[in-house]
Amino acid sequence: MTDPLTLNIGLCGFGTVGQGVWKHLSANRAELESRLGVKLNLARVAVRDRKKPRTVKAPAARLTDDPLAIANDPSIDIVCELMGGTTIARQVTLAALRHGKIVVSANKALICEHGPEIIAAAQKHGGHFFFEASVAGGIPIIKALREGLVANRFPRIYGILNGTCNYILTQMEDQDAPYADVLAEAKRLGYAEADESLDVDGWDTAHKASVLAWLAHGVWIKTDQMIVEGISRITPADFKNATTLGFGIKLLAIITRDFAKNELCVRVHPTLLPEGNVIANVSGVFNAISVTGDVVGTTLYSGRGAGQDATASAVISDIADASSLLKHGKGAHLIGEATEIRSSGCRLAPPESIRSRYYLRLTVKDQPGVLARVASVMARQHVSIASVIQSPAETSGAASLVLTTHESNERAMRATLKQLRALSSVLDDPLLLRIGDFEG
Ligand code: NAP
Ligand code: HSE
Repeated sequence: MTDPLTLNIGLCGFGTVGQGVWKHLSANRAELESRLGVKLNLARVAVRDRKKPRTVKAPAARLTDDPLAIANDPSIDIVCELMGGTTIARQVTLAALRHGKIVVSANKALICEHGPEIIAAAQKHGGHFFFEASVAGGIPIIKALREGLVANRFPRIYGILNGTCNYILTQMEDQDAPYADVLAEAKRLGYAEADESLDVDGWDTAHKASVLAWLAHGVWIKTDQMIVEGISRITPADFKNATTLGFGIKLLAIITRDFAKNELCVRVHPTLLPEGNVIANVSGVFNAISVTGDVVGTTLYSGRGAGQDATASAVISDIADASSLLKHGKGAHLIGEATEIRSSGCRLAPPESIRSRYYLRLTVKDQPGVLARVASVMARQHVSIASVIQSPAETSGAASLVLTTHESNERAMRATLKQLRALSSVLDDPLLLRIGDFEG
């Protein structure tokens, strides 16, 4: 019997995710190697600061502060890019792919911004690019779309794709906790991006939506082609209002495809979901994704969407796929890896065409006639009011008005917002949320 093949792995990045990969790969090595039929050697590790104290320790001799040295090292078979950002991460990824190596990435920002260049480099030089950890942490949603659901076209994919935001929203709703305290805790737990605005302003969810839209529809959508709104304007009062109305509030990515018109729409925004909707009840760092396929119907996936362990699980699953390719012949592609075959040249739907019911919160002067003025602005835009809740605002002499609408569209609501902002009786910037009437 011949000795099993030994595969050398280079970790570029040894922070939350990198240390998680080291920890779990080391702990489960024997079982993993026996399942895969190869030896896995964590040969080199790149960090910015070699002297930084770390919870998980790698031998000093394996550390470097030059990640490109790992990408260019002929002895390394699999390069895991776990640094983040789009500068050095892009250089390392492209360098490794140009050597025909397999790159494993958790970096959704990089894929969203440079996906076509990366995939082209992999295809040109015989490398492979795996990215299970880039969307929804430990949920194998990339594999589900590529492999398990390969028979389908996807009229709708929606869900919670950011663990930090879901953790913050849940803590605000359940504990009435102040936003800043909860964000600090999400950072301490290793959920948040180095630049937390990527999380709370919706960009991280948008990067992940872009990756899913590409897998499902074969087109690259940039974040400036989407509506992207974050969670920083949601207050505990919005949760109370939403509960009164029978809704929860979640930051969602929504990817819809109208096959008759051949139009695709990708958007990210806080959404009121009916309280009976399963995704409305997904709490904390958990993510959840509803995927509707034209063959299978609606399927639902849930699990931890961020953090060291869940993300390491996804990275190690890519290392396993990489091992299988290296063992059985790297020329082969995994199912769905050549995603350009799905490309259908669909158009982007104009954002103004989105139809929805809406939730509108206004702080107004508590005076006679104010509600009538607000209603008249909405009537001029043919926006029909479904319900009104009035309560005292924090400022004296002011009231909080919460209106929901019957189905309308973005064009009418944008015009409504513009005219409301111009009213002297409206005291601060109105908050507009969309209502997601999704059954599954
Ligand atoms: P992190 O804790 O900030 O770790 C980043 C690591 O990269 C650190 O070890 C850092 O070195 C190293 N690094 C950064 N720039 C470098 C450079 N120029 N040269 C060498 N090393 C460099 O980040 P993370 O949370 O592990 O996230 C890593 C990636 O995974 C990101 O793309 C992120 O979006 C993605 N991701 C994260 C999670 C999560 O839950 N955290 C989940 C899914 C995906 P030092 O330690 O010396 O500073
Ligand atoms: N910051 C990201 C989140 C990490 O909170 O979801 C996982 O991609």
